[in-house]
Amino acid sequence: MALKWGIVGVSGIGVSHAKALQGFEGVELYAACDIVPEILEKFCEQFNILHKFTDYEEFLRSEVEVVSICTPHFLHAEQAIASLEAGKNVLCEKPLAISVSEADAMVEAAQKAKGKAGVVFQFRLYPPVQAIKKLMPEIGELLRGFYQCHHFRTNTYYRQGKWRGTWWGEGGGVLINQAIHDLDILVFLLGLPKQVIARVNNLGHEGIEVEDIATAVFEWDNGAQFVVHISSVVSGLPTRFEVTGDNATIVMEGENVKIGRYDISLRQFLSESQEVWGSPKVSWEDVSIDKSMPHSHEDSVRLFAKSLMEGESPPVSFAEGAKSLELMNSMILSHFCGSPVSIPVDRKAYNDLLAELKEGKRRLRK
Ligand SMILES: NC(=O)c1ccc[n+]([C@@H]2O[C@H](COP(=O)([O-])OP(=O)(O)OC[C@H]3O[C@@H](n4cnc5c(N)ncnc54)[C@H](O)[C@@H]3O)[C@@H](O)[C@H]2O)c1
Repeated sequence: MALKWGIVGVSGIGVSHAKALQGFEGVELYAACDIVPEILEKFCEQFNILHKFTDYEEFLRSEVEVVSICTPHFLHAEQAIASLEAGKNVLCEKPLAISVSEADAMVEAAQKAKGKAGVVFQFRLYPPVQAIKKLMPEIGELLRGFYQCHHFRTNTYYRQGKWRGTWWGEGGGVLINQAIHDLDILVFLLGLPKQVIARVNNLGHEGIEVEDIATAVFEWDNGAQFVVHISSVVSGLPTRFEVTGDNATIVMEGENVKIGRYDISLRQFLSESQEVWGSPKVSWEDVSIDKSMPHSHEDSVRLFAKSLMEGESPPVSFAEGAKSLELMNSMILSHFCGSPVSIPVDRKAYNDLLAELKEGKRRLRK
């Protein structure tokens, strides 16, 4: 029997979920839910879906077995938990939620549930990221790194939906919407740091409350430092990732990855070299990237479907998907409290701050 799949929120990324699953063996596009009837009708006609709902609770009472959550961020936690409690499997769009507290509740619901719970973070599959992941064991102890990524967005982009660019609807700006993918890549490659210090601001977007630029330093137990610089106000710069360990440095610029291996480890050279101005020799190699592996958004939806059919764990679980939120929330909290923030983020402190931001009691300085 094919899995009866339902999609909630069907005007934007919901269409990509339907395209991914249309004709996919073992899946039936069974139901759709959206609060806007015209959007729902058009979508169901396009994908030949017979069960249509404008009410989410009624949708959950149907025979739907898997729910793709493609609604605005502020609905993810509530809808995912309700789906899991109703015995459904859930594929939630990124970000997992708005706050780490919401994410905790989702992780707990997933642990108790009969169904499986996954989140879409397709950039884990991006071939250069996969190539770096394979090379990471070569670098040795982490020492430093840098990540730069700019996702230019206009004010017109933010005017597409009332929930966009707001603390209540998105729970943040560039960090929680676009750069949550970048933060997810960083936790995928490096794990979570021990501490985060950050500054965020709104430099270029009128009419939105949230940040459009952010700079952070992540620190690990051994003192390793990693600088992150992200914005939606700068255009034309390639995404750049650098990571240096005791044995090697890996650099990604755009789609190109190279690794520089030191002939003697940095720490060994530091302690043993008799030279005043010497440094280890480094041999650079361009890394070949295997682009044949599935890596699109649609592929990540199909991989989740496949994991359900094969009884395997979801490619990215709720617990894993919550880690980028830990970084995002820590950056916002660090900015507003003006000090470093330890990971895991203090849940109460973040909830209190978010409540004040939503009420307009705290604001970003221009
Ligand atoms: N993985 C990715 O790369 C990716 C790309 C785009 C969007 N997304 C995520 O998908 C989510 C949706 O983004 P979008 O751009 O498609 O948004 P959107 O505003 O275009 O679409 C959201 C849809 O949800 C519907 N909706 C709102 N409230 C609802 C409710 N209570 N019940 C049912 N339907 C409701 C709206 O009517 C709308 O049709 C966001 O969380 C976003 O971050 C992920």
